[in-house]
Amino acid sequence: MLVYFVTDEPTKLPAVRAMFEPQHAVVPWLLGGDGTRIRSHGVLMVDVDLRQMPRVDQLRFILRDLAGISEKLFVVHNLSRSMVAQAYALGATAVVSRAKEAIAKVAQIEATEAAAGDKAAISGSEMDEGVAAFASMFSNVRLGKPVKVADAKRATSKIINRVGQDGLSAWLDEVRRYHEGTFQHCLLVTGVAVGFALDIGFSGADVSRLGLAATLHDIGKARIPLSILDKPGRLDPDEEEIIKRHPVIGYDLLKGVTGISQEILDGVRHHHEYLDGSGYPDGLKASQISDLVRLLTISDIFAALIESRTYRPPMPRPAAYQILCGMEGKLEGSLVRAFRSVALGS
Ligand SMILES: [Fe+2]
Ligand SMILES: [Fe+2]
Repeated sequence: MLVYFVTDEPTKLPAVRAMFEPQHAVVPWLLGGDGTRIRSHGVLMVDVDLRQMPRVDQLRFILRDLAGISEKLFVVHNLSRSMVAQAYALGATAVVSRAKEAIAKVAQIEATEAAAGDKAAISGSEMDEGVAAFASMFSNVRLGKPVKVADAKRATSKIINRVGQDGLSAWLDEVRRYHEGTFQHCLLVTGVAVGFALDIGFSGADVSRLGLAATLHDIGKARIPLSILDKPGRLDPDEEEIIKRHPVIGYDLLKGVTGISQEILDGVRHHHEYLDGSGYPDGLKASQISDLVRLLTISDIFAALIESRTYRPPMPRPAAYQILCGMEGKLEGSLVRAFRSVALGS
C-alpha cells in the first residue's frame, strides 16, 4: 500500500520510511514542495505543525488536491485538544499521537480493503513500488538534489514487471486513474516504451535500456516551474520557449552521473528531434537520430496524446495512432507500423 507522507519537516522522513518499508512504499510530500498529483489511492499521513497558520494554509491547499484519498491519518503530538479539533476540521479520518501508531492504523486499513476485495490494494504493490521510486526521483530533482539512478532503475524494473505480467492496457488505465500531470506522462511513456520493446521482441537487456531512457526522458521538467508545466490549455510563446529547454536541462542533470550511459543521455536530449530536422534542441536529421531515440519519440508522442487531463477526456488509442501515422517524414514509418498492435492494444 502507498503511504503519502505530508510533512513540514523533511528530517522526519527517514524514520517514517524505516517504519513502513519494505511492506509499504512511502511517497514524501514536503509542505511547500511539489507533490505527485495523486487522485485516490493509498493512505495519507500528515505530520505538520498545526499551530502555524501559514503551514495550515499550505496544507489545506495540498489536501484539496488529495480530496480523493479517503484515509487521512494525522499525527498530533501530545494530542492537544485544539490541535486534534484542527486535524478533524482539515479532514482527518484518524488522529494518532506518535508517528509509530500509524503503523497499526495502516495495517488495519489494508486489512479492511483486502476484506472488501479491493484488487488494487492486493495486487498493486508492484505498481506502488514503481510509483514510489519515480516520485522520489522527481521530488529529489525538484529540491535541487542530483538524480538517483538507483530510483530510476527500480522504477523501470517494477514497470517492466507490471507491463510484462498484466499487459500495457492495465498499466495505462491504472496510471491515468491515479496520477496527473507530468508525473502521469512519465509513467505512461515508460509503460508504452516497455510495451513496445516487449512487443517487437527485444531482449531483456534492451527492454531495460529503452525503459530506463523513458523513465528519465523528461527529468528536465522537474526543473520547470509547475505554473508552466501543468498549465491547463495553451502556453504563450515565452512559456513554450521555457518548456522547450527541458531536454537540455535533463541532459545537464544526468551528464557525468555514474550509471548513466551515453545512449540514455542521447534519449533525454533528443526525444523531441524529428527525422526531417524540424525538431529540437539540436535540429538533428535522420542519420543522426539513433534507433533507441526513434522508439522513444514514438512512445512519447503517443503517451502524450492519450493522457488523461482534468479539462479534457483522453484521446482514444486508435485516434492517437492515426496522428502518428500522419507524421510521415518526422517519424520512421516502419517503426510506426510496428507500433500498431501496441497502440491499438490488439
Ligand atoms: Fe519531453
Ligand atoms: Fe515526454
